[in-house]
Amino acid sequence: MSDKKFSVVIAGGGSTFTPGFVISLCANQDKFPLRKLKLYDIDAERQKKIGDACAIIMKEKEPGVEFEYTTDPEEAFTDVDFVLGSIRVGKYEMRSHDEKIPLKYGVNGQETTGPGGMAYGLRSIPAIIQIIDYMEKYSPNAWMVNYSNTIAIVSEACRRFRPNAKIINICDMPIDDMGRMAAIVGLNSYKDLDFTYYGLNHFGWWKGVRNKKTGEDLMPRLKEYVKDNGYYVGGDFDKETEASWVATFKKVKDCYAMDPTTLPNNYMQYYYFPKYEVDNANPHYTRTDEILEYRQKIVFGECERIVKEGTAKGNLWESAVHSNYIIDICHAIAFNTHEKFLANIPNNGAISNFPDDAIVEVPCLFGADGVQPICVGPAGRFQLGLMMEQVTCEKLVVDAYEQKSYIKMLQAFALNKTVPDATIAKKILDDMMVVNKPYWPDLK
Ligand code: NAD
Ligand code: G6P
Ligand code: MN
Repeated sequence: MSDKKFSVVIAGGGSTFTPGFVISLCANQDKFPLRKLKLYDIDAERQKKIGDACAIIMKEKEPGVEFEYTTDPEEAFTDVDFVLGSIRVGKYEMRSHDEKIPLKYGVNGQETTGPGGMAYGLRSIPAIIQIIDYMEKYSPNAWMVNYSNTIAIVSEACRRFRPNAKIINICDMPIDDMGRMAAIVGLNSYKDLDFTYYGLNHFGWWKGVRNKKTGEDLMPRLKEYVKDNGYYVGGDFDKETEASWVATFKKVKDCYAMDPTTLPNNYMQYYYFPKYEVDNANPHYTRTDEILEYRQKIVFGECERIVKEGTAKGNLWESAVHSNYIIDICHAIAFNTHEKFLANIPNNGAISNFPDDAIVEVPCLFGADGVQPICVGPAGRFQLGLMMEQVTCEKLVVDAYEQKSYIKMLQAFALNKTVPDATIAKKILDDMMVVNKPYWPDLK
């Protein structure tokens, strides 16, 4: 074991995921040892609630690790080895608009897909660029592992505006789906699977899934299950899965039927069945409301309790898959392991029949010099058509940002598979312009 220890800052320290992540970091000290952990946020009040509880967790579990939280960029980004990007520009208030404005016009209202996802992406671009710049100014050797959405759009902005930045844009959805696949075939974890996957973020397909140890092709068994049940496992596995996610995993059954030669990322449902999504949505109670009622309330309530009692003993968090995944990625970069994970990167031939300058989500080897993509061959014809349309939307959003162009954003909305008509696209955009005024460039 090396004696290297790392300094980490979580940007978006007030995130609902932070305490769970801190618990996971503590549980992984043998794998990814820390010397310092910092939280950075622009909302001092929100971060304080989380930060005070995390200080107690750290003091009890890892007193040797320095801990602080701050809203000062210089303090946050000086002397760090890793920046973890977990920001949500505009917080849940804006997520609620992303979901509800399209629904008002009978269009898919979702965090990272359709007009909501594009609106969110446009908000995130300047904030992520600013964080990259802080990192480069104060800790030029650091790596940023970013999972702030909308990842496809953020990645395209990085490709254009900060092409040499040491940032890796990742998503945990495929490992969640693969955790389900593992359970379906009686294995413990997604780590027991080998895979070939390609597409865009929240827009992809598995070409192959194998048992990592034995090499067994698991696709036939998985297809047999998924055709009836999607990725819904049920029983103990799903006992804490919230209602909207249960519906999502079950719906994969219909997505799979669209191309039985592959297995789909669960997010394909928003593109294949936008009408179904709208018909089954409540425009006055969306995923944001579910989170405010459950996750956010529980996380902030628990933090308050920890601070009041002065101890984190018996806290509700345990080392979770999402957090462990990010830690595994940091470990791979820190110790140059060349393990395989998925990243969102410029294609450059990884998908052989897709443009070089498109951001794609493909398997990569992660190491000290970043990511090396693995070639996955050609996309199927159906996939190619879908991907070309979607990636064009993502590029148009970044055009809109770069040129402060209303028409580019309108084109992005109108082209999107979730939007049936350009008149509706315009209505959604005009409503979004109003609420996004503090965050978007002034589109003309
Ligand atoms: P949250 O609203 O609970 O927390 C986000 C925090 O970011 C808030 O405290 C907010 O004040 C802060 N913030 C906003 N703008 C900032 C800026 N410019 N600089 C620093 N901090 C800023 O959000 P959440 O639900 O915990 O999600 C956090 C992010 O992680 C979101 O972008 C979400 O989409 C993403 N996410 C991604 C994945 C993935 O697989 N890619 C998985 C889960 C969550
Ligand atoms: C998955 C996706 C993320 C997304 C999240 C939303 O983890 O990979 O990109 O942000 O789901 O989950 P939530 O529980 O906030 O709706
Ligand atoms: Mn994701």
